[in-house]
Amino acid sequence: MPRHFLTLSDLSASEYRALLRRAAELKSDWKSRRMRASYPGRTLAMIFEKSSTRTRVSFETAMVHLGGHAIFLSPGDSQIGRGEPIEDTARVLSHMVDCIMVRTHGHDRIMRFAAAAEVPVINGLSDLHHPCQLLADIQTYQEARGDIAGRRVAWIGDGNNVCNSYIEAAQLLGFELRIAAPPGYLPEPALLSAAGSHAVMMGDARAAASGADLIVTDVWASMGQETEAAVRRTVFAPYQVTRELMQLARPDALFMHCLPAHRGEEVSAEVIDGAQSVVWAEAGNRLHSQKALLEMLLG
Ligand code: CP
Ligand code: NVA
Repeated sequence: MPRHFLTLSDLSASEYRALLRRAAELKSDWKSRRMRASYPGRTLAMIFEKSSTRTRVSFETAMVHLGGHAIFLSPGDSQIGRGEPIEDTARVLSHMVDCIMVRTHGHDRIMRFAAAAEVPVINGLSDLHHPCQLLADIQTYQEARGDIAGRRVAWIGDGNNVCNSYIEAAQLLGFELRIAAPPGYLPEPALLSAAGSHAVMMGDARAAASGADLIVTDVWASMGQETEAAVRRTVFAPYQVTRELMQLARPDALFMHCLPAHRGEEVSAEVIDGAQSVVWAEAGNRLHSQKALLEMLLG
């Protein structure tokens, strides 16, 4: 069985920390243009059943820096969209490439894909998890503020895939995640109960934000939920991250968002474009943290 990265819990706490240390080294090499092409000829296939800017460009660039190559596949221009079973696609690609990244809808789909694959599979986002995002987010927090262990993080808004991955990160790295989400839009109950006191639901956004070291949000309607967008705009209206909400957090608190963002919905323009926001560094760290992940999986 190859080693997969489908959720953050595929890493131990010490592997997660080692990966973050390596990501910081790789970033410093990149800044001084000292990238080492230590994986010549290696290939990553990237299957995107949903849109992407950051995930695609960061993985593709990472493979170039490592001396390898990435291949983009979408349902529109591969046999995946014409009904070839995903297990067959996994088997075929395993005979050609060294690693496969999949962005898809149901998490069961990526699990089926991984079960049939003979090379490592990376979850590039499913409806349930976005583990790659949590590599970059924690790298970003730690390069600005030091170890995240023992810190307080507020998740404001939808209990979605990114929120679920935050719950796993809180449990692995030992920080406190305070979640404010409207009823009916809560994160995965099994993940919450597994995280125990590391992830707690709060009554409202203000309670979650109070005393936080980091405030995080995401879109109100994720990919695949476009038809719910109007209803969600009403339900989530009290969950916008505003300057007033940021003022309840610690004075040195940071703001993060995985992007793409909707200014005036989940976050006000003055917050995302303001001094406490680190969203551009966060997006940039996708490159370095995923390069560290690729090194780990390629061996
Ligand atoms: N944050 C993130 O995964 O962005 P993309 O959808 O652009 O890949
Ligand atoms: N929750 C969002 C994240 C996008 C990167 C979505 O799934 O669309």
